[in-house]
Amino acid sequence: GLTAKEQLDPFVLIKDEVSEVTDRLRSMVVAEVPELTSAAGYFFRAGAEGKRTCPTVLLLMASAISMGIADGLENKPRARHMHLAEITEMIHISSLIHDDVLDDADTRRGMDSLNFKVGKKFAVLAGDFLLFRAFSAAVSLDNTEVVSLLATAVNNLVTGELMQMSITPAQRCSMDYYLQKTYYKTAALISNSCKAIAVLAEQTTEVQALAYQYGRHLGIVTAPILFAMEEFPEVHEIVEQGFDDPLNVKTALKYLSKSQGIERTRSLAAEHAKLAASAIDDLLDSEDQVVLNSRQALKDLAQKFMRRTK
Ligand code: FPP
Ligand code: MG
Ligand code: MG
Repeated sequence: GLTAKEQLDPFVLIKDEVSEVTDRLRSMVVAEVPELTSAAGYFFRAGAEGKRTCPTVLLLMASAISMGIADGLENKPRARHMHLAEITEMIHISSLIHDDVLDDADTRRGMDSLNFKVGKKFAVLAGDFLLFRAFSAAVSLDNTEVVSLLATAVNNLVTGELMQMSITPAQRCSMDYYLQKTYYKTAALISNSCKAIAVLAEQTTEVQALAYQYGRHLGIVTAPILFAMEEFPEVHEIVEQGFDDPLNVKTALKYLSKSQGIERTRSLAAEHAKLAASAIDDLLDSEDQVVLNSRQALKDLAQKFMRRTK
């Protein structure tokens, strides 16, 4: 049996299901050409899977809004939720692979990036392949709203990446621009997928909205330097120039330490964690222990995410 602490640990709670998702992912990325199979499967190999936050959050959300996890694959809605977790993870990995090509990154998750390993051309095609596999699996779920939510998420990912690439000096100084870009890049996939979980569970629009809000608040992070800029107008010019120049980084850090930037970032992150938790608290009361544990786990996860900004 699990200890009391383990019973609330989100990763322990659904460890077996997340492993099952991981196993299925490996078989889903098999292509006609062996080179493509190995490139597309690069981040799904044993030891390369990362923290698998997406599947964990989505399966906990599925439990938090509906039935227990005991039925496993006998339970059809659960199987559909697991497919959605697989699909979301594939989209996530696809976006990271493309991002590393765009950023010319050599590493990812403490390993060689895929572009470093197999070259840009193969990496781009592997990312495309994963995206296509994700959407063909989504089509199999036979729910147009779910496909549409995932399409919105990918549209947002691309838009966020473009907003970052095409940023003007004035936009660099705008908190609104920053938050919009951040939402698109880091929160849109999880928020839309959380909503898709509720759609698949045939939940009310209220529950769909709460699931979406949870994902949105979980994914949002902020830039301390923009707060520092409000206190020290001198920082404006540095932010406008961007941080390619190491001297700018050094100067910005100096101002940051004199400012309330870090504290304000922390309290905003705490605010988001609180809002994520209140989306969960606004769900209808339940007596089911699995549902309650899953809700607690989602709230704990939001706290844990908040601490990352500390
Ligand atoms: C990481 O940003 C990048 C993302 C979270 C999204 C990237 C999105 C695209 C490349 C658009 C294409 C999307 C698909 C689905 C094919 P980062 O470079 O700021 O952070 P990191 O490299 O340190 O993780
Ligand atoms: Mg990058
Ligand atoms: Mg990038």
